[in-house]
Amino acid sequence: ALKMVTIGGGSSYTPELIEGYIKRQDQLPIKEIWLVDIPEGEKKLNIVGNMAKRMVKAAGLDWEVHLTLDRREALKDADFVSTQFRVGLLEARVKDERIPGSYGLLGQETNGAGGIFKAFRTVPIILDIVKDMKELCPDAWLINFTNPSGMITEAIQQYGKWDKVIGLCNVPVMAMMNEPATIGKELKDLTYKFAGIDHFHWHRVWDNSGKEVTMDIINKMYDGSETGLPKNIFDVKFFREQLNQMKMIPCGYHRYYYRQTEMLNHSLEEFDQNKTRAQEVMRIEHELFTLYQDPNLDHKPKQLAERGGAHYSDAACEAIASIYGDKKTHMVVSTLNRGALPDLPSDHTVEVSSIITASGALPLTFGHFQPAERGWIQLMKNMELVIDEAAVTGDYGLALQAFIMNPLIPSGQAAKDLLDEMLVANKKYLPQF
Ligand code: NAD
Ligand code: G6P
Ligand code: MN
Ligand code: MN
Repeated sequence: ALKMVTIGGGSSYTPELIEGYIKRQDQLPIKEIWLVDIPEGEKKLNIVGNMAKRMVKAAGLDWEVHLTLDRREALKDADFVSTQFRVGLLEARVKDERIPGSYGLLGQETNGAGGIFKAFRTVPIILDIVKDMKELCPDAWLINFTNPSGMITEAIQQYGKWDKVIGLCNVPVMAMMNEPATIGKELKDLTYKFAGIDHFHWHRVWDNSGKEVTMDIINKMYDGSETGLPKNIFDVKFFREQLNQMKMIPCGYHRYYYRQTEMLNHSLEEFDQNKTRAQEVMRIEHELFTLYQDPNLDHKPKQLAERGGAHYSDAACEAIASIYGDKKTHMVVSTLNRGALPDLPSDHTVEVSSIITASGALPLTFGHFQPAERGWIQLMKNMELVIDEAAVTGDYGLALQAFIMNPLIPSGQAAKDLLDEMLVANKKYLPQF
């Protein structure tokens, strides 16, 4: 019987996770679900935790749902641990979005200066969790979606020395859910291959006769068809000529780099109107937690689809079911490269199409990139390594290097001033600096 633990259990996404377990009740012999939070999150934990209990009961299951602030009690003898916490809560996200905005720069959860600081705040905590796991549940699998998901997964492997980890994101999931219909196909009749790193990957697609259909999907991206862009990303179209040359489908986040000026202008317009995504998320959360308090609600409400991360918890459940049942499902996950992308070091984390087995993710070989994509991915991956090392050591020079490398932060005195201001604003969550 399985003991499942979720750290950051008070998240508004938790009902999707519970729904994902319920859907897979025949594949997962669950006995206990432990939702862990911190005192600041206790109120949310209780509301969403009671909702989780109602969902389990309505499904006729006898699973125990435990709500706790004691992480170590939860981790003891756990089989699967998933992480979905937000260090510093949404207040920290407001700062990640507003402070760069005040310098005329992009404020975003996982890109630019905000993404770097989210990593700085999160890495110490995830390494602490790994330390606890080594002691309390050394055989457990860790499924991480705490952002920046790729960098956090990398830190777990490089610095936590913990290999039983899978990093997840909903962006590939949403692409695979929405694209097939645009070319009149079903997912089961297509072969997808993704390659890159979290929030910076591309993909190619083939049909069941072996014909590549990547360009057919790209063509549809220009006649207004929905391609599965998460709700949090403003839709500026990619340059058609660039995609024609690339012959791959970039992920939604690539537009911050390929249409940097337009994305920045949009972000600054919102900044001027005091409309950041964090504030929008606060509004959606308020709506969701009001619904969750309804004692008659015992299923995931449709309003959860307003969150950018819709479907990621379901992906987590699928990854868990695939590991437990050795299902060999195709999933796009953050895992060690092991040669799948020969343009990147083999002992670092990449986000690629993989087969999920009882021994974890087996990445599928993608091969070399063309020079343009190779240049980008090597810069972005190496920047991630600099960020993680800065997050572990608290080395100011490394933090500055990360800012200078980041393509969304122009190098110069303002970059250094921004770094300094964000270090002060986040002091409470940066013991390493
Ligand atoms: P949230 O603000 O609701 O935070 C979730 C919970 O984490 C809160 O209840 C909070 O109290 C708790 N928490 C904070 N610090 C903690 C700690 N040290 N230990 C345990 N719990 C702690 O966040 P959310 O919007 O649900 O997102 C959660 C995380 O998942 C974020 O890091 C977010 O970026 C990430 N996310 C990832 C994806 C993806 O594609 N990988 C998608 C959506 C969200
Ligand atoms: C998805 C991503 C997450 C991201 C989130 C933001 O785009 O895959 O990694 O950070 O949504 O959603 P939110 O609703 O919090 O803005
Ligand atoms: Mn993501
Ligand atoms: Mn820079």
